[in-house]
Amino acid sequence: MNGPNIEKILITGDEIQERVRQLAQQISYDYEGKVPILINVLKGGVLFLSDLMRELRVLHEIDFMSVSSYNDGTDTSGVVRILADLSINIEGKDVLIVEDIVDTGLTLDYIRHMLLARHPKSLRIVTLLDKKERRRVDVPLDYVGFTIPDAFVIGYGLDYRQKYRNLPYVAIMRPDE
Ligand code: PRP
Repeated sequence: MNGPNIEKILITGDEIQERVRQLAQQISYDYEGKVPILINVLKGGVLFLSDLMRELRVLHEIDFMSVSSYNDGTDTSGVVRILADLSINIEGKDVLIVEDIVDTGLTLDYIRHMLLARHPKSLRIVTLLDKKERRRVDVPLDYVGFTIPDAFVIGYGLDYRQKYRNLPYVAIMRPDE
């Protein structure tokens, strides 16, 4: 099997696990006595969600959405099409969106407004990675794992042509293979 063309490991598996534990601790504290619905936007965030929820100390539910954003190859356009919607009614509920990465912010901005229109009691966002310098629209991020530079990253849910999501670490890749 050909491996990815890795330039360097940006965040090790141990560093991710430690940070996920810290985030879960903070979220458990903030949501004490509540039963939040964790909403995951497929597919990149599935590893983060599954690790995060195992560390949470509050009762919670999970649900998934699948979206596709039309893009020109490298950039998101901000026009999002819903491929699969939530199965839970979020009206009056405490909602926490769980993302793997926020880049331009366009996808999340769209989803956030769509979910707000359903009148949740509260809506917060947790992202493992924040590629801050790429932001084109301001999205309020309540919990951030790591701020990372503008580089092509794979692993821990993030793909290159749908592969390498299983890597336990986040690595910078030269997408030229
Ligand atoms: C990633 C990520 C976010 C979005 C962020 O998903 O999970 O949803 O891109 O980009 P933005 O901030 O520029 O909008 P992607 O479209 O790569 O799909 P995937 O999770 O299935 O890999």
